[in-house]
Amino acid sequence: MFAENPPPLEPADFIFVCCQHGSEKAVKSEIADGYSGLNFAFSRPGFLTFKLTEDASLPLKFSLTSTFARTSGWSCGKVSGDDAAALVGEVLKSPAAKLCDHVHVWQRDTHVPGKKGFEPGQSILADEMASLIAASPSMADRKVAANQIAQANELVLDVVMVEPNEWWFGFHYATTTAGRWPGGVPKIDASQEVISRAYFKLDEALRWSGIKIKPGDVCAEIGSAPGGACQLLLEQEAIVIGVDPAEMETEILENPNFTHIRRRGNEVRKKDLRSVRWLMADVNAAPTYTLDIVEEMVTSSSVDVTGVVLTLKLVDMKFADQIAEFRKRVKGLGFSVVKSRQLAFNRGEICLVGVKDRFALRSSRQRVKTSKKPASKEASSAATDKESS
Ligand SMILES: C[S@@+](CC[C@H](N)C(=O)[O-])C[C@H]1O[C@@H](n2cnc3c(N)ncnc32)[C@H](O)[C@@H]1O
Repeated sequence: MFAENPPPLEPADFIFVCCQHGSEKAVKSEIADGYSGLNFAFSRPGFLTFKLTEDASLPLKFSLTSTFARTSGWSCGKVSGDDAAALVGEVLKSPAAKLCDHVHVWQRDTHVPGKKGFEPGQSILADEMASLIAASPSMADRKVAANQIAQANELVLDVVMVEPNEWWFGFHYATTTAGRWPGGVPKIDASQEVISRAYFKLDEALRWSGIKIKPGDVCAEIGSAPGGACQLLLEQEAIVIGVDPAEMETEILENPNFTHIRRRGNEVRKKDLRSVRWLMADVNAAPTYTLDIVEEMVTSSSVDVTGVVLTLKLVDMKFADQIAEFRKRVKGLGFSVVKSRQLAFNRGEICLVGVKDRFALRSSRQRVKTSKKPASKEASSAATDKESS
């Protein structure tokens, strides 16, 4: 047991990474390319650990530059057993448990989103376990929050329920937007009835990227049918143009703030996009096809968009290795802030966002500063406060 003041936290020998079920290979490949001081150690679907080599280190408040890592942190090991109270007791012995502001508990993804009824987000079991941990006397005294959104830079005790009776625990500092959410998943009620899952995807994309749609903003979506994303935009009081040869849901068509251009993206007259501020794309085609259409639109002299929110289909992950090129291409179109992430609600696809000016982002004024001093050469190129870029 520690005396009154526990010693400050130190980096551990391992880190953990959570990702979408099926994206483990992509995570391993990103880590191998960007972090030579991290060696793959262990994985289950949706969960991986990496060991730091002897000469490597990461800043205590590291955040990985990665499209596929949904969340990550220092890994302090695992506890197993069928007695939840005993598992909680073991977790509470960790130094992070003595100091944390928050406890985040979540279960690894058991399937890809939308399959076998699985949707990302907090499970009842994980919430109960988080409450159990936070109810321990030492945490209750400090008013540690259970499975709530952490404030910027707060210390979070992480418990990943890799199995209900096998918990991996560790900690991270909430230095990024997604790092503040339990398990890196925003609180989106996926049980609500929506026109399509694209509603949740776009909701998550906007929260993660910091793009705030203002009432009256003109948004266009290429690949808009049946209309889940348009439904969200209309709820946010945007003026919406849907571009799709397929039929839109009647509820969307009947909204006076919606216009349907029933064509393919490459057949749209650019003057019809004159007032568009935010351009979305969610076309079921190869990423290069989507990027070709977007490029043709945003380079037209009659179009002046502030930002793009693109869903890029990875088609069996074969395009995963080209994400850096896709980002570069979007940057080359004049979008100075470009980032990519496999959203929890994406499946077999990623989200790529580009904005012309970081001040267009709601979060730009609240940007969190992290250590710019990675402790090793290996870490220096990659360990920055970027969710991906
Ligand atoms: C995944 S669905 C889009 C879902 C939609 N975003 C929503 O919110 O419900 C993909 C759509 O892309 C459309 N599509 C395919 N090729 C297209 C193209 N060249 N231009 C515009 N839409 C296209 C399809 O008709 C299909 O409706």
